[in-house]
Amino acid sequence: MNAVLEKIRKGGPAGEEELHDLLALHTEEELDALYRTAYEIKCRFIGKKVSFRGLIEYSNVCTKNCYYCGIRRDNFHADRYTMSREQVYEAASFAWKASYGSVVIQSGERSDPAFVKEIETLVRGIKELSRNELGITLSCGEQTEETFRKWKEAGAHRYLLRIETSDPVFYGKLHPADHSYFQRLECLKTLRKLGYQNGSGVMFGLPGQTQEQMVRDLLFFREMDLDMIGMGPYIVHSETPLAASFPDFALHKEELFTLSLKMIACARILLRDVNIASTTALQSLHPSGREMGLLAGANVIMPNCTPPSCKASYDLYEGKTGAEKSPEEARKELQDSVERIGESVVFNAWGDSPHFAAKRKG
Ligand code: 5AD
Ligand code: SF4
Repeated sequence: MNAVLEKIRKGGPAGEEELHDLLALHTEEELDALYRTAYEIKCRFIGKKVSFRGLIEYSNVCTKNCYYCGIRRDNFHADRYTMSREQVYEAASFAWKASYGSVVIQSGERSDPAFVKEIETLVRGIKELSRNELGITLSCGEQTEETFRKWKEAGAHRYLLRIETSDPVFYGKLHPADHSYFQRLECLKTLRKLGYQNGSGVMFGLPGQTQEQMVRDLLFFREMDLDMIGMGPYIVHSETPLAASFPDFALHKEELFTLSLKMIACARILLRDVNIASTTALQSLHPSGREMGLLAGANVIMPNCTPPSCKASYDLYEGKTGAEKSPEEARKELQDSVERIGESVVFNAWGDSPHFAAKRKG
């Protein structure tokens, strides 16, 4: 067994140096040991259980222009949609009846008054239709404190806002000049101040990204005292400036997949009691990607509840899977796959992270 893992298993610290060593592991045996260690920690702090969040991809209209993203404002080939209120309620009802316990409303970023109001209405509507039972996570980009507060009062209790990279200079290379790293950081602080459970995350496998940066990303999660982590591999989208600037860049699928599992495992080893998502992007890299993510330390899966007619247009990166399944089929398949690896699904609960509960008590 690798010496660093041995130390961590005995309760030793996982700091910068250790994370470097862990991210550099590459033999099959070492990687297995890494995933097993992370999984043990996950079982100890979370249990042998997985939470579901019904994912509602509300709209792919976005006012931002991130260089890597398929639904950026200037991609004129993107087929834009916004779900109707009825469609959102239908998706939320499905999630509620399927006992998922909570939903995530994800959207491209807009901050106009009509959008702010509509999200507020949707949050209230979902609370009402589920007799206050469904938990609601929002992932609708950077907003003013007033907007965040309004949405919280309406009933949202968790917010996901990826920092994308913790390195401000690298952030500048991935975004146009008017997208501010520091503003995003401020948003994360505001969300915490308002009492949301805070989620963030990064992309990895980006052109020009170094292992040092990824180690700092992990340490950033701890510094920010996050409750939830949603991160994922960068996957080229051909209609983006990043693809045009690096025409030959594409990490090999296997390499990217291994990196994804390593990042999940390291996040679990470092952060212990937070919620970590095993994302759809993993699934597009490997047919059992999501289950392998769970076995490397993740504990949250977000089954897509977006109606099939919209889903195909929520095209952040190429090869996104799952667009052809109905929510019923998706649910059955996921539950089976979770049970096959010896875990069970937590139904009818919000699935807050023990980390958040511990902070509350403390
Ligand atoms: N590859 C992987 N993830 C991407 N995202 C956007 N574009 C890509 C891409 N090409 C992720 C970002 C963003 C989330 C909505 O989708 O991390 O926060
Ligand atoms: Fe919009 Fe998010 Fe895509 Fe950036 S990453 S263009 S904010 S949807």
